[in-house]
Amino acid sequence: MPSTDFLWWRDGVIYQIYPRSFADSNGDGLGDLPGITARLDYLADLGIDAIWLSPIFPSPDVDFGYDVADYLAIDPRFGSLEDFDRFVAEAHRRGIRVILDLVLNHTSDQHPWFQESRKSRDNPYADWYLWRDPRPGGGPPNNWASVFGGKGWEYEPQRGQYYFHMFYKEQPDLNWRHPAVREALLDVFRFWLERGVDGFRLDVFNVYFKHPDFPDNPPRLGLRAFDRQQHIYDIDQPEMFPLLREIRQILDAYPERYAVGETFLSTPQKAARYCAPGLLHATFDFTFLHSPWRPERFLRAIQDWEQALRDDSWPTYVLSNHDNPRAATRYGRGEDDARLKVAATLLLTLRGTPFMYYGEEIGMRDIRVSRSEIKDPIGKRYWPFYKGRDGCRSPMQWDDSPHAGFTLGHPWLPVHPNYRHRNVEAQRRDAHSLLNYYRSLLRLRKENSALRRGLFQPLTFEPRRLLAYLRQDEHQTILVALNFSSRPVRLAMGRTLSALRWRPLISTKDEPLIPRDGFLTLRGNEAVILEREA
Ligand code: GLC
Repeated sequence: MPSTDFLWWRDGVIYQIYPRSFADSNGDGLGDLPGITARLDYLADLGIDAIWLSPIFPSPDVDFGYDVADYLAIDPRFGSLEDFDRFVAEAHRRGIRVILDLVLNHTSDQHPWFQESRKSRDNPYADWYLWRDPRPGGGPPNNWASVFGGKGWEYEPQRGQYYFHMFYKEQPDLNWRHPAVREALLDVFRFWLERGVDGFRLDVFNVYFKHPDFPDNPPRLGLRAFDRQQHIYDIDQPEMFPLLREIRQILDAYPERYAVGETFLSTPQKAARYCAPGLLHATFDFTFLHSPWRPERFLRAIQDWEQALRDDSWPTYVLSNHDNPRAATRYGRGEDDARLKVAATLLLTLRGTPFMYYGEEIGMRDIRVSRSEIKDPIGKRYWPFYKGRDGCRSPMQWDDSPHAGFTLGHPWLPVHPNYRHRNVEAQRRDAHSLLNYYRSLLRLRKENSALRRGLFQPLTFEPRRLLAYLRQDEHQTILVALNFSSRPVRLAMGRTLSALRWRPLISTKDEPLIPRDGFLTLRGNEAVILEREA
């Protein structure tokens, strides 16, 4: 049923691109904006509605773009401002919106603001970061730790003081309580809005404010120093709410602009607190990223999230991103994609905005990096217990030419060796490929209003193998059934549902089955979507 009130960030699907790994147009081994622009037809054909670009600002790359040295420019390795404008115009021409990733909790230590700030206690930028005197008798001002390991404080001899960094020491945290800092950062929103950007993903937004007195965090049990404290004073301070309201007002001065927040140390309840009319349009809860392949775990995550959110706020769902092993790595069995089709069906039929991660549509697996190939500093620090985040950031696999058609040069991270058979070109030609299944699902979501906005109503409770639910609005009733196991399973339809007539919209198997004698039978790893016939 066509709907007339399509709101892109609510009804659409958002696709995250890690720009350095998507498409390289100039052979330097690093993806870039012209490379992405050249692939927009592919994305339009896939059927996504918006692109979220991981950071494209100048960066010394300690955290690969998440350490920003200038918020108002494009890293020359990604292109120029003109390249950016062209990318936005070409995306818009295809009905695709553009979301930028704003990393405003911290800058790079190479940002001119920090370069000035660290020089002395009395320069114009002296209070732009979180500077504190050593504890009496020496040592860091309090017990706060960095989530990337070690202490959260770094000593600066030029000032005889410490600065705080929640992430790497090359990422000093900004002082959001300073009026000039606040203005400068709000200007970043205005600058990109004026350039036609449709929205923002706010990196770790709930870390912006820290308690003004910097008290020690109370202890708790945990493995690493960071986990051994309750994060009461270093995140989630009440000052975040008026700031979000101000950001929202800036966005609302333009039509249909959007902000989604990355909730740091997220729980559904915490993520829900920041998501409301007047605050953020959306926030992330990451439960799916850590969920084992068990239907009851997914169902509980969905119900927790639905319950935590207010009636007037809207969920988001994500199976993969640039910080975690890909869903294909977590759930795939070897090179078999059967489970990934089930996962795709889940993601694209829930009540909430689906976020896809580049390469998810072709089932890209994480690469294995050897110790000498590691780029992500946390991988170096914690090797071999944790290998960092390079695995999920490997180059997009376009075709079977050298380096998977990603670059004519030497790629910054290795291409997955499976690229010869797992690539866009090969899957385009294969009617049964994961790529073509994603395309069909994206089309179905667009064509069926119940899949976008309908109520979510589970049909299975504490499911062990089968997850089934209805999506219903005033036009349509749709039934989704997902078999998480490799054996056949039956869904008892009950009297009311059995009495209705159902027509298959899609199945991951060739011939979709319809309910018979009160049961819907699913084959191993099958996902089906049925529509109630009028
Ligand atoms: C967010 C980003 C992550 C980055 C961190 C610090 O969690 O997703 O990639 O390292 O913030 O900016």
